[in-house]
Amino acid sequence: MSFDLVLFGGTGDLAWRKLMPALFQAFRHGSLPEGGRIIGVGRDDHSDDEYRALIQSRFENVELDKRPTEDEFARFAALLHFQRMDLSGEQDYPRLAQILRDRNADTVVMYLATAPALFTTVCEQLAAVGLNTANTRIVLEKPLGHDLASNRAINQTVCGIFSERQVFRIDHYLGKPAVQNLFALRFGNALFEPLWRREHIANIQITIAEELGVEKRGAFYDTTGALRDMVQNHALQLLCALGMEPPINSHADAIRDEKLKVLRSLRPWTPATLVSDVIRGQYGPGKIDGTAVPGYRTEEGVDPDSHTETFVALRTEILNWRWAGVPFYIRTGKRLGDRDAHIVVNFRPTPHAIFDSDIGKANRLVINLQPRDGLELHLLAQGRDNRGKPQALAPVQLDLDFDMRFGAQRVGAYERLLLDVLDGRLNLFVRSDEQEEAWRWVEPIMQAWQADSQGPRLYASGTWGPSASSAMIARDGFCWSEES
Ligand code: BG6
Repeated sequence: MSFDLVLFGGTGDLAWRKLMPALFQAFRHGSLPEGGRIIGVGRDDHSDDEYRALIQSRFENVELDKRPTEDEFARFAALLHFQRMDLSGEQDYPRLAQILRDRNADTVVMYLATAPALFTTVCEQLAAVGLNTANTRIVLEKPLGHDLASNRAINQTVCGIFSERQVFRIDHYLGKPAVQNLFALRFGNALFEPLWRREHIANIQITIAEELGVEKRGAFYDTTGALRDMVQNHALQLLCALGMEPPINSHADAIRDEKLKVLRSLRPWTPATLVSDVIRGQYGPGKIDGTAVPGYRTEEGVDPDSHTETFVALRTEILNWRWAGVPFYIRTGKRLGDRDAHIVVNFRPTPHAIFDSDIGKANRLVINLQPRDGLELHLLAQGRDNRGKPQALAPVQLDLDFDMRFGAQRVGAYERLLLDVLDGRLNLFVRSDEQEEAWRWVEPIMQAWQADSQGPRLYASGTWGPSASSAMIARDGFCWSEES
């Protein structure tokens, strides 16, 4: 299969950090279809060779299995081209159309890694020069708008030009191996299904913690915040994967239909729950791994009086027969105690305790997303001393480390998703109605914050966020995983 992948935003941060490394890894792993061409598009003027040299220099600082040799990079670089374009005007699109028509590849992918303000213009201009053909796929990077109205406006334009089956909305969390394993765990095994419901599960916790601050993205982040950046998309997609009913088959729409039902069943916010069940925080100065780091308000590009949240913890419920009454907690933030994304499924205690032992962390399933991905099943077992004499029951941990089990070749989220786009597989992409429903659900939070002059609670960098987050979960008689 021949393909042309046009990367709008080809000299942007995402291209350097994630997309080019992912394409290179796919090339190295031999999974990139042969006969491909990757065309970076940007505003600067670069020859193909200058663009290749830029990418090679950026590869010094990105995550790859190992550095490419000169020869290996040269073979990859042969796929790379550069096209200067001003995306906001119409004058440069006919040239792009010509370049693509001359080659007439089987599949053309338009990857929009640009500011979302440009999405509709780019799609309209592609249509104006006849580039909305049936073999075209369009990939949209987040953020897709900054609220429901702007998200809808983008979706309406895009879906007026391309059919839904041609639109690949990226949520890179869906490309993480652990998330696919969550689908496998739930729908490929009968073991957990009878337990996966309100009768047996006490609560579910989703944590996406980062050690990094806003880095060089202060100006972007200050108008975005953690709710839009992480909760509306990544965290809610994880919640859907945990809460959805078994789909009727493994096709994209069957899966997306079920995820949509979860989003529609989330408990609507009330003025009271917007106060009691949502905590926002902002990092102050502190220490990460023993090194002093500055507070958010002194980061480059950030307003010194900013009220933007870098931390969110919230409590919700899925109002249906399977889940009614089970709290789902979401927590995400920057400059937290560790880089750690995981899900904890806490099962209910046994109906009657016959052993006199502290169950500690037992009776739970942990799904680790990163830094390593795998499963931990925590059980109570009969303890023994080193002469074999029985002791009290003790918590034990059964580990399934997917990296160890399946060998060293790790397929990163972007690599996986880019290959799925080339294959035309939509399972791990988000449909417009899902996205809109997620915006609809977070909007009352955004509005409540806007009306509240108090702003976020400060937390010291290197901690687990404001103490109100622990207090929120403690109110239900539970605690976050690192506190147990
Ligand atoms: C992105 C957010 O979507 O996800 C970033 O915009 C965040 O702010 C990143 O750092 C986290 O992704 P990962 O894969 O490193 O957990």
